[in-house]
Order: sequence, then C-alpha cells, then structure tokens
Amino acid sequence: MQSETRVFLGSSAIKSHWGGAAARSVVARGKKLFSGEAGCSDCHSGPDLTNNATIDVGKGAPTQVPALLGVGARAPFLHDGCATTLADRFAPACGGAFHGNVAAIGANDIPDLVAYLESL
Ligand code: HEC
Repeated sequence: MQSETRVFLGSSAIKSHWGGAAARSVVARGKKLFSGEAGCSDCHSGPDLTNNATIDVGKGAPTQVPALLGVGARAPFLHDGCATTLADRFAPACGGAFHGNVAAIGANDIPDLVAYLESL
C-alpha cells in the first residue's frame, strides 16, 4: 500500500489502473528500459539516481546530474525548463540523443519510461 500511494501516473488509461497490476507492469517495464537499452542509469545511478558527475547532455553547458527522486513533482524539467512534461524530456530541445540512448527508445517506450520516472 505504501508504494502504491507514491505512484502518480500520467495517462488516463494508466490512471484507471492506479495501483493495480497494469500500472505496476508499466512501471517495471520503464525501469528495465531505464537501466537497460535507454542507458539512463549510466548517469542516473545509485540510491538517488545520480552519479554526481557534471556533464553536458546536449544543452551547451555542463550541469550536475540531478537526483531523480520525486522528479515527477518538479516540472518544468532540466535547468532551463526545456520540458514541461516528462515525455518532453526526450525531445531534441532537452538534449535528445545526447541525453541517454534516445535512439534506442521507440515512441511506445516513452510512456513506460515516464511511468517509471513518476513512480520515483
Ligand atoms: C550522460 C549522463 C546522462 C544520461 C545518460 C541521462 N541523463 Fe538525465 N540528466 C543528466 C543531466 C546532466 C541532467 C541535467 C541537465 C540540465 O539540467 O541541463 C539530466 C536531467 C534529467 C531530467 C530532469 C531532472 C530535473 O530535475 O529537471 C530527467 C527527467 C532525466 N534527466 C531523465 C533521464 C532519462 C529518462 C534518461 C535515459 C533516457 C537520462 N536522463 C539519461 C545526465 C544524464
């Protein structure tokens, strides 16, 4: 129950399953992508999901890798607010392919990654 109260999911389809098996499997799939083919955990690693490195992810200036705990509650995202939603984070304005292995992510994968990010 405790973990279910911390899940804030984006799409209405997912919301209708809030806290249910469908939501959990979407989050689990996003988590697998995050630490697998999407390459997010190359930088967002460890208990706070940051390796504390300072790096340029295609934004023109190096910034410290932010922790991602509670990230869903602090839009807009990145230092310049290039994303108003977590899904927008994958757009070129937020680094695109310089920010994670975005080329390996299909359009169908983004809702899963967003569900995982919102669960943090
Ligand atoms: C090369 C290191 C690196 C990788 C790989 C990486 N990130 Fe990041 N991430 C960063 C840095 C650095 C920032 C801050 C950039 C800024 O603010 O300009 C950031 C910011 C973010 C933010 C915004 C956080 C906030 O508080 O505004 C999100 C969300 C995010 N990353 C998700 C991801 C996801 C999802 C992936 C995988 C597709 C990923 N990152 C891959 C380094 C990385």
